[in-house]
Amino acid sequence: MVASRSPAAGGHPLAGRVALVTGAGAGLGRAHARELARLGAAVVAEDLDGAAAAAVAAEITEAGGRAIGFAGDAADWATARSMVEAAIETFGGLHVLVNNAGISRPAMSFSMTEEAWDSVLRTHLTGTFAPSRFAAAYWRAEAKAGRPGQAAVVNTSSGNGLDGGDPGHVNYSVAKTGINTMTTAMAKELAPYGVRVNAIAPLAYTAMTAPLWGTELLPAERRAELEPESVAAVVGWLAAPASAPMTGRILAVTGSRVVLWRGWAPDTVVTTDGAWTHEKMAAAAAALGTAAQQRPLG
Ligand SMILES: NC(=O)c1ccc[n+]([C@@H]2O[C@H](COP(=O)([O-])OP(=O)(O)OC[C@H]3O[C@@H](n4cnc5c(N)ncnc54)[C@H](O)[C@@H]3O)[C@@H](O)[C@H]2O)c1
Repeated sequence: MVASRSPAAGGHPLAGRVALVTGAGAGLGRAHARELARLGAAVVAEDLDGAAAAAVAAEITEAGGRAIGFAGDAADWATARSMVEAAIETFGGLHVLVNNAGISRPAMSFSMTEEAWDSVLRTHLTGTFAPSRFAAAYWRAEAKAGRPGQAAVVNTSSGNGLDGGDPGHVNYSVAKTGINTMTTAMAKELAPYGVRVNAIAPLAYTAMTAPLWGTELLPAERRAELEPESVAAVVGWLAAPASAPMTGRILAVTGSRVVLWRGWAPDTVVTTDGAWTHEKMAAAAAALGTAAQQRPLG
């Protein structure tokens, strides 16, 4: 059962709300779609794999919820526009957007193919931005028409996008770091229209992490807390009014821990009189080098 169970916190905090989840056919996206439905939202379950999206929508409706499947590429602008329109036309509005669709094409920089670079950046960056762009246009129009939506976007970052990136994942790390900045920049842009934009950096047992199952990162004995449903609970909370006014934040969800991350911050400062010269920089740089050597990169 999905939608018929009452959330422990009481009531259905997303009753009357409409949610769009990209990459909802499997893994984390499937869990997000089911959790948002359980919290009362009508759900558009979108995925490149249309059959998988339809199956998740069927699971939700069979459990008493409301959902449709939507097949398509979240990084295609026309598709992104269509999926936002489908939510509005089918369920009468849009209040929650979970940008979850993602792929991984691990490679060291010196072995990276053009396809691995382009597909990862496109799927994550454009696949997060394009649905957000069309949802944002709708929410702005609604606000200007006197109907501010109290809407919420939840983007999907990664530990690789927070810790300075890992060897073999430069494309993925760059894409996720871009999603961090998209989250903070769009949080500022959309605040005037009542839209909150946050992100999660999940860790879970899914097809994407299958090579890591049972390793130190995803220990078998902690599997219960590392299932997608645990991460989905945090997404459901970020989507619900209860998490207001939180916006522009990135929460890493690793099993039973949720960590609020901060972005780049000034570290060591060196100054000179007037403009820099090569010689002045060489003299001052010792302070930068010493500081940098005291801590690992990233
Ligand atoms: N699983 C983890 O531990 C973990 C860790 C960090 C970040 N993430 C991120 O979480 C998100 C979900 O990952 P997952 O582990 O559930 O992966 P997954 O491979 O199990 O599922 C991803 C889903 O996204 C769909 N998809 C891929 N490209 C798409 C596109 N262009 N348009 C629409 N759908 C598309 C796939 O068909 C699939 O159903 C991704 O953004 C991933 O980078 C996952």
